[in-house]
Amino acid sequence: MTTTVSSREPVGMERLLARAQQLGEQETEKLLARTPASARLYGRARQTLPFGVVSSFQKGSPYPIYVSHGKGSHVWDQDHHEYLDYHGGFGAMVCGHAHPRVVEAITEAASRGTHFAVTTESAVAFGEEICRRFNLEMLRFANSGTEATMDAIRVARAATGRDVVCKIEGSYHGHHDAVMFSVIPNADVMGGRERPAKAPVSKGLVKDASKYIEVVPFNDAEQLERLFDEKGQEIACLVMEPAMMNIGIVLPEVAYLKRARELCTKHGVVFIYDEIKTGFTIAPGGATERFGVQPDLVCLAKAISGGLPAAAFGGREDLMRLIEQGVSQMGTYNGNPLVSHVGLVVLREILDAEGYRTLAALGAQLSAGCQKAIDTYGLPAHTIDLGAKGCVSYRQTPMRNYRDFLETKPELFAASYPWLLNRGIFMTPGDEEQWTLSVQHTEGDIDEYIEVFTGFCRALTA
Ligand SMILES: Cc1ncc(COP(=O)(O)O)c(C=O)c1O
Repeated sequence: MTTTVSSREPVGMERLLARAQQLGEQETEKLLARTPASARLYGRARQTLPFGVVSSFQKGSPYPIYVSHGKGSHVWDQDHHEYLDYHGGFGAMVCGHAHPRVVEAITEAASRGTHFAVTTESAVAFGEEICRRFNLEMLRFANSGTEATMDAIRVARAATGRDVVCKIEGSYHGHHDAVMFSVIPNADVMGGRERPAKAPVSKGLVKDASKYIEVVPFNDAEQLERLFDEKGQEIACLVMEPAMMNIGIVLPEVAYLKRARELCTKHGVVFIYDEIKTGFTIAPGGATERFGVQPDLVCLAKAISGGLPAAAFGGREDLMRLIEQGVSQMGTYNGNPLVSHVGLVVLREILDAEGYRTLAALGAQLSAGCQKAIDTYGLPAHTIDLGAKGCVSYRQTPMRNYRDFLETKPELFAASYPWLLNRGIFMTPGDEEQWTLSVQHTEGDIDEYIEVFTGFCRALTA
């Protein structure tokens, strides 16, 4: 894991922002001119799908770029343009697209029947492998990250007889009511730095849902301790992305994770890691392994099954056995034979030690190359490298929490997005995301990203 910081003074901000706006407008115009098929599909999709997309995270301005297919490290859009994919399906595609072994595993499973709603041996074996990696005593499957955190929170509430969920300001844990607060709160509703407000993310939440949430800053054990001392008896769980990955990337201070662990134990609060992004991307056993602090429950999804919709949560046996004592956890498709067989193949044969070595080398190459460009052109930015995940954030120094994210310059990201797309680099549309590398990316692919990004830095400062 490396964090690199520019050694040069940033170039004048006013000039940079003006140039970013100019570049952004030019590049967006070009992008719109070269993507008429996406524009047409958007017109059609809007008739059926709100925002013209299947999930609100996918919406684009003025329309999203629609993908037709992918192979290896590449994707193609509706207009037949080929891109190197760094979007990675929001972090799910660590195996890359249509990996031959994944395709073969899907075929093997499909030819034996994709679904019975009866537990198969493959589901048991898949569960065993996940437990081994994350040091979990038991687990249950689900179908999305949202379900995994929803179920883990229910277990925590049952275990403690308490209702309140404590979450970190600036983290996303899925779209169920319990956690739809203070994800990316606007400055006018977020409250003070040390005592963040509970800012709802959606209309339609239960009216008094905010009664059951507490929000704390990341990397701040003091504030956590203060809250637990004050309200620990009401708090069922602390749910946390152990490395924040919905505002770029914020690394944890290991001492903070250790202290959070101690405080949860002291106050009888269930400590839940949301490893939906970190799990399977930053180490074989995710953040649990990488940072060496064991929570009570871990939630997993995204990269768990080679791009198929699967999820899981698990941890301490005494907590998971509550499912045998009145805690409801179910789902027609949970751990079905398709996702279980493919997931097992992925974990055993693709995301093995060699796979993680590849991801680490590619990640180090990409972040070093981007940082070199940042330094060369004196941009107020830094890179983070965390295995398959990494990013450029437009702030001089690394972030410690959500408030630091508010100091980034979204204008610079906004200019970079169409610049990269127009030059064959497919990235996520928002600056809250980060790149996802796959085992099918090559050093040449990474060089290409670096070259395009360097060109962007040059143009920005020209
Ligand atoms: C950290 C984290 N938790 C939970 C979720 C929700 O997962 P899903 O979209 O599969 O419901 C996400 C999705 O991006 C996430 O990033």
